[in-house]
Amino acid sequence: MTTLYLTEHFASDDYQRLDGYKRQGGYEAAKRALGEMEPAAVIELLQAAGLQGRGGAGFSTGLKWSFMPEDSEGPKYLVCNADESEPGSFKDRILMERGPHQVLEGILIAAFAIGAEKTFLYIRGEYAEPARILEQAIEEAYAKKVLGKNVLGTGFRHDVVLQRGAGAYICGEETGLLESLEGKKGQPRKKPPYPAQHGAFGRPTTVNNVETFCHVPHIVNRGADWFRGIGTEKSPGSTLFGVSGHVVRPGLFELPLGTPLDEIVFEHAGGIHDGLRVKGVIPGGLSMPVLPANQLDVPMANESLRERGTMLGTGGVIVMDETTCMVRVACVVTYFFRDESCGQCTQCREGTGWMHKIVERIERGAGKPGDLELLLDVAAKMEGQTICAFSDAAAWPVQGLLRHFREDFEAHIREARCPFLESFDL
Ligand SMILES: Cc1cc2nc3c(=O)[nH]c(=O)nc-3n(C[C@H](O)[C@H](O)[C@H](O)COP(=O)(O)O)c2cc1C
Ligand code: SF4
Repeated sequence: MTTLYLTEHFASDDYQRLDGYKRQGGYEAAKRALGEMEPAAVIELLQAAGLQGRGGAGFSTGLKWSFMPEDSEGPKYLVCNADESEPGSFKDRILMERGPHQVLEGILIAAFAIGAEKTFLYIRGEYAEPARILEQAIEEAYAKKVLGKNVLGTGFRHDVVLQRGAGAYICGEETGLLESLEGKKGQPRKKPPYPAQHGAFGRPTTVNNVETFCHVPHIVNRGADWFRGIGTEKSPGSTLFGVSGHVVRPGLFELPLGTPLDEIVFEHAGGIHDGLRVKGVIPGGLSMPVLPANQLDVPMANESLRERGTMLGTGGVIVMDETTCMVRVACVVTYFFRDESCGQCTQCREGTGWMHKIVERIERGAGKPGDLELLLDVAAKMEGQTICAFSDAAAWPVQGLLRHFREDFEAHIREARCPFLESFDL
């Protein structure tokens, strides 16, 4: 049984183009869903398949679609979240560059299921090349009547608008994205109301990640049982693991959910460079707590990672070898979150700055007794209190680093210096 489906045809020269995509069976799923199925049946299929959103939170896609009101007057919208702001994550970029029509086909099926007349495809400003490729694909789709008044001859009408962001991490958070889309400062909204009631321009809106859309045509083509046959019972399907850091072969690997982390690091990514040993691995993008070397035997699925105190996030696997100073890592992480906080909530605005200040002085050799308790206290107070989950995402990596690598922090305070020979610069 092949588990490769998202990236199966990425090596074909013309897969980026509409004709090439169709040659591999592209748009057959959209034709079937839009032409032969009821919207409710598409939602049921997604629920039966158990697809979990691939944007970081792992929420059920079918359930999210079912939240959209059926009987509202006026427009409903779909948003494709292509902000990909999580450091360590680069899967959406490759999906858009290599298979832009796969993204569009997933969008069409989702739009039909929720009754949306328009999709806003919100892409981060730095992604100039994927934006160019998507623009070309959208143009082709309009020219060949895959988008517009009568999609694929099914009578369904749908428009896709590409919107480029200006590059802020918080514009990946769904309500920050909506504010930015509306031309305002990217600041998350208080929930409720949720986007399904009050989303883009005050209309019912569903927001999904690029990769989430890419799974949809395959589920329509091959069914819920096929999808459930890949991955784990609770986390079905394949996903894209983006491996970076101190490995021999960094890259993107499509593998079933539940693939052990050590298999990803040591087999698929070729192991640690220069014969060094691994020290720690961040499994799901920078916001997720790190795992130490002796805990890499964990299946990469939401449920099993949660048992180890971390999460799958966006599947961005960041590998660090034994020469890595974990205080320096904490410095980089806190610097990033301090800079990217939108500043609306006190716990987040002040907490991120405070954490960075403490970590930075420990790294400099000016740490004081009690600093680690203070750091943990600040991090604890940042959790679960704020408008959006950014504040939690800033606290978790620091808590993880202290949980597993406290010795690094203590050595800095005890010796009043960084004990690592070469620390990398900020
Ligand atoms: C601080 C923050 C940043 C986020 N950045 C992204 C992002 O860049 N891309 C993304 O798809 N989801 C991101 N999310 C998650 C979105 O809010 C949302 O849950 C997701 O787009 C829903 O798609 P899914 O259900 O298909 O996973 C972020 C969430 C938070 C709290
Ligand atoms: S938690 Fe942080 S990023 Fe989110 S709304 Fe509050 S201040 Fe802004």
